[in-house]
Amino acid sequence: MAKVQPLEATIDIAELTSLADRAADVVQSVRSSMLAPEAKKTPPVFNSSQLAELAAVAKSKIQYLSGKGTLPSGDTGTARKEWTLKETRQWVRHLRPETLRDPALSAGVVITVANFKGGVSKTTTAAALAQGLSLRGHKVLLIDTDPQGSLTTLFGVLPDTEVEEDQTILPLIAGEVDSIMPAVRPTYWDGIDLVAAAPLLFNAEFLLPSRQMKEANFKFWKVLDQGLDPAREVYDVIIIDTPPSLSYITVNALMAAQGIVMPLPPNALDFASSAQFWNLFSEVCGDLYKEAGTDSKKYSFVNVLLSRVDQSDVVSAAVRQWIVQAYGEHVLPIEIPKTSIAATASAEFGTVYDMERGSAQPRTLKRARDAYDRFVDHVSFQLSGIWASDAKIMREMKGTK
Ligand SMILES: Nc1ncnc2c1ncn2[C@@H]1O[C@H](COP(=O)(O)OP(=O)(O)OP(=O)(O)O)[C@@H](O)[C@H]1O
Ligand SMILES: [Mg+2]
Repeated sequence: MAKVQPLEATIDIAELTSLADRAADVVQSVRSSMLAPEAKKTPPVFNSSQLAELAAVAKSKIQYLSGKGTLPSGDTGTARKEWTLKETRQWVRHLRPETLRDPALSAGVVITVANFKGGVSKTTTAAALAQGLSLRGHKVLLIDTDPQGSLTTLFGVLPDTEVEEDQTILPLIAGEVDSIMPAVRPTYWDGIDLVAAAPLLFNAEFLLPSRQMKEANFKFWKVLDQGLDPAREVYDVIIIDTPPSLSYITVNALMAAQGIVMPLPPNALDFASSAQFWNLFSEVCGDLYKEAGTDSKKYSFVNVLLSRVDQSDVVSAAVRQWIVQAYGEHVLPIEIPKTSIAATASAEFGTVYDMERGSAQPRTLKRARDAYDRFVDHVSFQLSGIWASDAKIMREMKGTK
């Protein structure tokens, strides 16, 4: 065995700072070379079969309507007709009006993706859900509340260099503005706007408790909820991605939501951690409302989504049983497979919806995309339910006036 050498404490904070600086430089250069700038990140295009599938009509109907002149007829520059994302969304909205929100009768719905365990695929789920819902004709606002800014990165924006404070939720959290709208920016994906995140969002964790101490009647957990009101009129769906913690920001995001999606890989540690999450959150939530003396928060849906499921793993089958036993009807009958496709897509800063059909093994990509499609359909169905119930209340109110 080697002779023991004295090991003195010599690594000071200055050295850690220089480590941080060097790492930041490397990250910056790697990201800049891998990540296409916003203008270069391109949305997918769709052929007539894909368009027909999204619009839920036969291909012959697409051909027939293309000739009518009211809907985009598709790019004829290539051998096969192709429609841009924007044109495709126009078709879907035209052909599936019954699934859309009527802004006169109902407001946009807020969905928060949360789980205080890291790396369970919260960000991937939020991004894919936003893309899937936009492909069904909905107008989506994505809000990144994680100082890591992974969702921001997925949408082609570099958190460290391309995000100003006023493009994040921070001014709202600080009380400088009372609406999220000034922070909204468009993305390369038609139908999805973004409120970005950057490391400076860490300040929110100090700002909120400090405002709670100083300001009379301040409710730290309502800041995001109230700031989202103007966005609820403009967007059909607002999806919030949260950091892997039950932070002040995460509590805000959960309090603003009507629906919660918890991605949960079927393994024992993640399952145990999810139980702690619900326990802590329900305690925090209960205490806040008791203190405020108001009625407690109610959700329209809570979806536990089995994510990163390794089909060949026998252990995960057992843990899946526990999850169903614990969360019952809240567990979606859908499993997002663990695939190298998802990893490849995110290495290229995208999701399965960004990948072209020919760019990966077709069967694996189809399996992953089918699973996300089913998830998106399920959420879309719940949204229609919320809008139907809003509309009913609105009609009753109008009727009694
Ligand atoms: N279905 C999947 N199969 C394989 N890898 C996946 C899958 N979904 C996500 N991943 C990978 O797992 C990693 C974590 O995913 P993601 O960033 O979405 O998780 P997260 O919960 O948002 O993490 P964090 O807690 O850090 O915010 C990423 O590298 C992503 O590419
Ligand atoms: Mg994340």
